[in-house]
Amino acid sequence: MLSHKRDHYCGLLTEKNVGETVHLSGWVQRTRDLGGVVFVWLRDREGLVQLVFDSDVCGAENFELGRSLRGEYVLTVVGEVRARDESAVNRDLATGTIEVFVKEAALLNKSETPPIYIDDKVDENELVRLKYRYLDLRRPSMQEKLRLRSKVVNCIRYALDESGFTEVETPILSKSTPEGARDFLVPSRLHPGTFYALPQSPQIYKQLLMLAGFDKYYQIARCFRDEDNRADRQPEFTQCDIEMSFIDEEDIYAVVEKVFARIFKEIKGVDLTLPLPRMPWIEAMERFGSDKPDTRFGMELVDLTGVLGGDTGFVVFDGAIEAGGRVEAINAKGLAGMTRKEIDSCAEFVKTYRAKGLPYMTFTADGNVKSSFNKFLTPELIEKVRSAMRAEPGDIVFFGADRKAVVWQALGALRCELARRHDLIDHSLYNLFWVTEFPLFEYSEEEGRWVAAHHPFTSWYAEDNVYLDTDKEKVRSRAYDLVMNGIELASGSIRIHRADMQAQMFDMIGLSHEEAHHRFGFLLDAFKYGAPPHGGLAFGIDRLVMLLTDSDSLRDVIAFPKANSANCLMMETPADVRPDQLETLKIKLDLPEEENA
Ligand code: AMO
Ligand code: AMP
Repeated sequence: MLSHKRDHYCGLLTEKNVGETVHLSGWVQRTRDLGGVVFVWLRDREGLVQLVFDSDVCGAENFELGRSLRGEYVLTVVGEVRARDESAVNRDLATGTIEVFVKEAALLNKSETPPIYIDDKVDENELVRLKYRYLDLRRPSMQEKLRLRSKVVNCIRYALDESGFTEVETPILSKSTPEGARDFLVPSRLHPGTFYALPQSPQIYKQLLMLAGFDKYYQIARCFRDEDNRADRQPEFTQCDIEMSFIDEEDIYAVVEKVFARIFKEIKGVDLTLPLPRMPWIEAMERFGSDKPDTRFGMELVDLTGVLGGDTGFVVFDGAIEAGGRVEAINAKGLAGMTRKEIDSCAEFVKTYRAKGLPYMTFTADGNVKSSFNKFLTPELIEKVRSAMRAEPGDIVFFGADRKAVVWQALGALRCELARRHDLIDHSLYNLFWVTEFPLFEYSEEEGRWVAAHHPFTSWYAEDNVYLDTDKEKVRSRAYDLVMNGIELASGSIRIHRADMQAQMFDMIGLSHEEAHHRFGFLLDAFKYGAPPHGGLAFGIDRLVMLLTDSDSLRDVIAFPKANSANCLMMETPADVRPDQLETLKIKLDLPEEENA
């Protein structure tokens, strides 16, 4: 029988191979039986090529084999590459100017009819795709994305190696790290009643590596966070984690920009203009209502609080200002034609961001003005809004009137939603820039206290020391994010490296001395032995690849991702375990009745 060892890839054959005898192996994409001749598309990782089973060339036995083929059968053939007649050229196929006349063929394996089409042109239900992921991954687009991902990781390794970084692996069986999500726990058999935590990031280890003198560390690190899944969040994801000693922000930016320049050049053929732009956090919030602004379109927020002054007569505006809040607005240019239903759905949309309503003012094409608060509409109010918002006929202005944080969040999100719905985004742009000077603290309504906005190892600007006791909101951390097209790609900071400052930080976020020592004692101890000034960052490789491949979800760039409730439909994880396994771990389940059954 014919060996399965091929000498060419299907998808790489070209007219240059015409006249050659080639040996191919792959999967049957589809067959067309014209009676006297059978056409078969054979697929491998490089693409498709048309095989021709012609009994005059391949003989009766091979011809019968050709006729018996079905989708996804595994086949190996030897045949001659021939140019197609001009009339038979298939422009949709990369190999469409040639075909391979089979001389000899062997069936290597059969396949049942697959539950999904292995075809990028067919939109399959995602749940079925995830259940049969190994078939889904046969689709050329999935193959391409994962190969691009592999190239991205190569670029990272090359660029960092060139810059003198050492890759160090850190433990997966670890202890709770403070990235703010829930931990995944692993029970210990040898120490019943105790648990490892899977790392949310290698944060503490990398700081200890700086203490250990490694100077420049990186790791392609798997991280685990038990939080609600979203399109841009997976419970298990991969970071490129970086840390450096005796440096400041500028050194971090330079290293990361070099990595990104290499990735964009090699993957996209794009020359990034360096250095990347920077935007202080406060500017990002005030202009875009977001700390990860999508700057590919305008519709910026305008603060009208001063202009309106609190005595418009419209209770919603006046009330917000009186309560110490703000009135801000966005001008959706040219969208005055939105239907009532669309506007209502926008109002529903901002409610998910805690806005209580969505007042609007329409500047109709015929020069009139309508609003959702007509009763309170005065010529002065219209004029103030028109001039501050630069509103022209055909525009619609949406307002937010509330606490600053709510206004920013609601209008910031609405801005992006409107851009999506009305196709205002130029998808050829890669708007990559740094957001800097994040607040050090953030008030947690849930916990009723100030918490670290990034993580509690982040240092702050010395000149903001004056606000530490009185005005925590104003303290700027030495933290930075790298943002692209509305997505946070990377996050990092210059760290605290002195034990007294670290203790002060824990104290300021209400972590008692005992608690701090219980959780991070080893770090505090380590800081006693000469910690160098250091800092770093981590960027999400999944997110970067999602953006580079224009995918809608992280699931499209992870080979075996988790579905929405952190489950894997293919392996059916999480799964129960045998009672004796639990016994060994001294674990007793206490599930509600129905789950036990
Ligand atoms: P942070 O928590 O901001 O910082 O994470 C850094 C980057 O990791 C990516 N990321 C995720 N990607 C997919 N799914 C998730 N659930 C997820 N969570 C985070 C994002 C994010 O920007 N130790 C710090 C870094 C540092 O200070 O050096 C950290 O982990 O792209
Ligand atoms: P109403 O006076 O309830 O008819 O509301 C007039 C407009 O103000 C509508 O567009 C509402 O969506 C908006 N609105 C009402 N209450 C609030 C509020 N508390 N905050 C923000 N907008 C509001």
